[in-house]
Amino acid sequence: MASITLDSLTKSYGQTEVLHHIQGEIQHGEFIVIVGPSGCGKSTLLRMVAGLETVTSGQVSIGDKVINDLEPADRDIAMVFQNYALYPHMSVEQNMAYGLKIRKFPKAEIKRRVEQAADILEIRDYLKRKPRQLSGGQRQRVAMGRAIVRDPQVFLFDEPLSNLDAKLRVQMRLEIRKLQRRLGVTSIYVTHDQVEAMTLGDRLMVLNGGYVEQFGTPIEVYEKPASVFVAGFIGSPSMNFISAQASKGQLTLPDGTTLASNTSANGPVTLGMRPEHLKQHGSGPIQLEVDLPEQLGATTLVHGRISGTELPITASLNGIHAASSGDVLRFDAPVEQMHIFDAQTGKRIE
Ligand SMILES: Nc1ncnc2c1ncn2[C@@H]1O[C@H](COP(=O)(O)OP(=O)(O)O)[C@@H](O)[C@H]1O
Ligand SMILES: [Mg+2]
Repeated sequence: MASITLDSLTKSYGQTEVLHHIQGEIQHGEFIVIVGPSGCGKSTLLRMVAGLETVTSGQVSIGDKVINDLEPADRDIAMVFQNYALYPHMSVEQNMAYGLKIRKFPKAEIKRRVEQAADILEIRDYLKRKPRQLSGGQRQRVAMGRAIVRDPQVFLFDEPLSNLDAKLRVQMRLEIRKLQRRLGVTSIYVTHDQVEAMTLGDRLMVLNGGYVEQFGTPIEVYEKPASVFVAGFIGSPSMNFISAQASKGQLTLPDGTTLASNTSANGPVTLGMRPEHLKQHGSGPIQLEVDLPEQLGATTLVHGRISGTELPITASLNGIHAASSGDVLRFDAPVEQMHIFDAQTGKRIE
């Protein structure tokens, strides 16, 4: 069984610890996305699983077997990178076959696997071409083909779609997801793109500065973000944050507005409200003074400030709305859509 266990993994470069006691259990066949901003340690973590970086402390296991000291080639893992790193002088077919050839697989078996992978990826017509004769999307498929023919226990992906244009990225994202379901191979996928993370992952590991902020399903992470960081990182447009005083279940905003809530917190908190959860209502307590409406067609994003303050706030309205700079729109803040965080630690308060 290709479950993966990360047990208190740390990584230091010299005196600097860049990953801090990473903990996580990945089930057999699961698709896990490691997501976080640039520099948070995603690639380093993935490369430790691949065996391309040493482990400073803690353990990585596949199934019951600790693999810390196993050579990359002995881990039964295939990795797909952002720069596809195809051999330019080899045909598609040779690129896909190469890994099996150096592992001394019989010719007939190599042929069978390459053809099967080419069928799955629908690149059979390109097998004789050189990489330079392919589009970016086709090259990315060949890079995936090279991983598939290995028939590994684990796939690792490091931002494999970053070099593609937006439309192709969406298409390839769907293809990777379907492929992973079909093959059922345990996979870890690294990205800084929260939309990619939300759509691909069975679960997301949200990393920030080398710490796991949250490890949960996309819905858990969206509905119950564990911290201000996760709340702000996941979801587009970003969640609104307003400092508030909590007392006896009530929240008082800096402009004196009071909101009903069901928090048990007392004292300073951070109130989080997603733009799509603010409900336009003629006598609602939140007054948004419009700076700029953004017409996106399906929705209108209204950016502005809480009336009489400099506190930024954004609301997302369904459909097309005529709002102009200076208008004041009023909103309800539904209690069940409020997120309350500790003002000091940024951690979620239930
Ligand atoms: N070989 C290295 N030597 C020193 N520091 C490194 C090395 N590789 C990565 N780092 C540092 O580790 C941190 C995490 O890097 P990385 O895993 O590449 O982040 P991400 O993939 O999330 O963008 C960064 O601060 C980076 O500068
Ligand atoms: Mg990286």
